[in-house]
Amino acid sequence: MKIKKLLVLSLATFLVSQCAMFKGAASEAAADATVSYARDLAPLMEKNCAPCHFPDKGKADMLNDYDKVRRHIRGILYRVQLDPSKADYMPYKQKKAGWTAEEIALFQTWQAEGFAP
Ligand code: HEC
Repeated sequence: MKIKKLLVLSLATFLVSQCAMFKGAASEAAADATVSYARDLAPLMEKNCAPCHFPDKGKADMLNDYDKVRRHIRGILYRVQLDPSKADYMPYKQKKAGWTAEEIALFQTWQAEGFAP
């Protein structure tokens, strides 16, 4: 009898944990996240990565919304931290100013906190 109760209990725990895993992408972000894509990062993308990664003039892959920036976050962080003389460095060929260390840190915090919208 005791074993049966234990089994039911562990099954319930398992199901609850499975549900938690399937919550929507945005709700993964910690409720107390300090960096928000819309408030803090979208303006930085626009300032330093437009027009090339934005519609209308952009010819490179678009990086103009939450999903795209989130999907490319590793590539973004990799490229902006390269030596500016490297071919992969972004902004491309230094045609625009790069982010400051503080601005790059915002993207790193956003990633660490779970990508708050
Ligand atoms: C002057 C135009 C220009 C600007 C400004 C620019 N980029 Fe790019 N970017 C490009 C081009 C062209 C490519 C494709 C060539 C390459 O991969 O190097 C590219 C490629 C990339 C890629 C690779 C995409 C992929 O699918 O692998 C990333 C990530 C990226 N840029 C991030 C940025 C970020 C972040 C900024 C702003 C800080 C930025 N770029 C600013 C022109 C630009």
